[in-house]
Amino acid sequence: MPISVAVGMQWGDEGKGRAVDLLSENVEIVARFNGGDNAGHTVTVGDKIFKLHVIPSGIIHAHTIGVLGNGLVLYPGTLLQEIKTLQEAGIEISPKRLWISDAAHLITPAHRLLDQAQEAALGKSSIGTTGRGIGPAYMDKSSRRGLRTGELLQSEEFKKKVRQHFIDANEMLTVYYHQPAIDIQTMTEEFTALASQLAAYIKPVGTLVRAALKSGKNILAEAAQGTLLDLDQGTYPFVTSSCTTSAGIFSGLGIGIQPVERVIGITKAFQTRVGSGPFPTELFDATATFLRGSGSNPWDEFGTTTGRPRRVGWIDLVLLKYAIEVNGVTELFLTKMDILSGLETIKYCSAYQKDGKTICELDFSGSATEMERCLPVYQSTPGWKDDLRLIRKWSDLPNVVLDYIKIIEDFCGVPVTQVSVGSERNAVIKR
Ligand code: IMP
Repeated sequence: MPISVAVGMQWGDEGKGRAVDLLSENVEIVARFNGGDNAGHTVTVGDKIFKLHVIPSGIIHAHTIGVLGNGLVLYPGTLLQEIKTLQEAGIEISPKRLWISDAAHLITPAHRLLDQAQEAALGKSSIGTTGRGIGPAYMDKSSRRGLRTGELLQSEEFKKKVRQHFIDANEMLTVYYHQPAIDIQTMTEEFTALASQLAAYIKPVGTLVRAALKSGKNILAEAAQGTLLDLDQGTYPFVTSSCTTSAGIFSGLGIGIQPVERVIGITKAFQTRVGSGPFPTELFDATATFLRGSGSNPWDEFGTTTGRPRRVGWIDLVLLKYAIEVNGVTELFLTKMDILSGLETIKYCSAYQKDGKTICELDFSGSATEMERCLPVYQSTPGWKDDLRLIRKWSDLPNVVLDYIKIIEDFCGVPVTQVSVGSERNAVIKR
């Protein structure tokens, strides 16, 4: 059973990039199956910091093939820039090592403008999107007028379709959102020229991945964003527009339902969120400033994609257990444990007060309006002063840290198998 999935348990930014980098040591294929360049993954190798938005972080290992499945929406400009940056850092990115599905969809500059116009029109009720055109590109996909990567191989037809897309988008932008018109001719020329540079990487990814599975190759699928941003299971409508849970691997890569060996749930040792929407355990006091950091380090809580300060709070075990169940998680990878060092007491949310009742699990399907009515019920455990950053052995972890891990395991019913204590590649303690 050669499939493993790495999936975020919170609202994204759980440290999936570095977790996937580590988990890729023993796999041949690392695949993304959802989202686009709204994602931001940071991996630190020696003195090099890689910030990736689209290409799976496991590609940094020379023996892997990076796959972008049909479930993605791709902005050619970002993808080409990422290919270039990795190549300049000495990492081989060639059509042999990077496969882009011919059934993935393209994001255009008009999708980005529409995303931003839509957010502006929503005013105070805005979702807080990354402005990367994700929602409008998925809207075009579901209304069956999207631009598929495979089409750019037929250049004349593709150009006609791109032009029509810009004409339609222009109508929406000017008439509906009262925005300035776009230059259809220039955008069509520029976009088709840029997108065509991806042609060599475009392949029938579903067929290739199914063949790889038949021949016993190991695949690590990397979910982008986090479970609580899932279009169906997340805090709707404050979610992204794709399937961010383990279920997405089958439709987003084009493979049949089959046993998945490991579902690795990645969660921070506390909670963060960017963008709007409910966050029951959010903090606004000195602890929030402590957990967020000042922004002077790349691992401080400021968005990789947008640079926005992240909202921070205590870990929410009710939501963690929900995410574990939604994804069928078999083990947890706990990140950023070192950040908690120095806190006198650590709180964790183990229930909610909702409409006068105490609930220990969600009695609704993620809805933001229902979640707004949930007040956290906290328990606490002693904190620690120890600096964890140089610890590499499980047995060297202080007992107070092990107690905190045990609280999480006992509540959630799955083992914590790995804990990260720093941003470097080797700052991970395996059990
Ligand atoms: P969109 O995906 O840009 O449409 O944004 C929808 C929501 O998902 C917003 O709240 C974003 O902040 C959030 N979001 C999207 N991608 C990420 C991510 O990779 N990390 C954290 N939040 C994200």
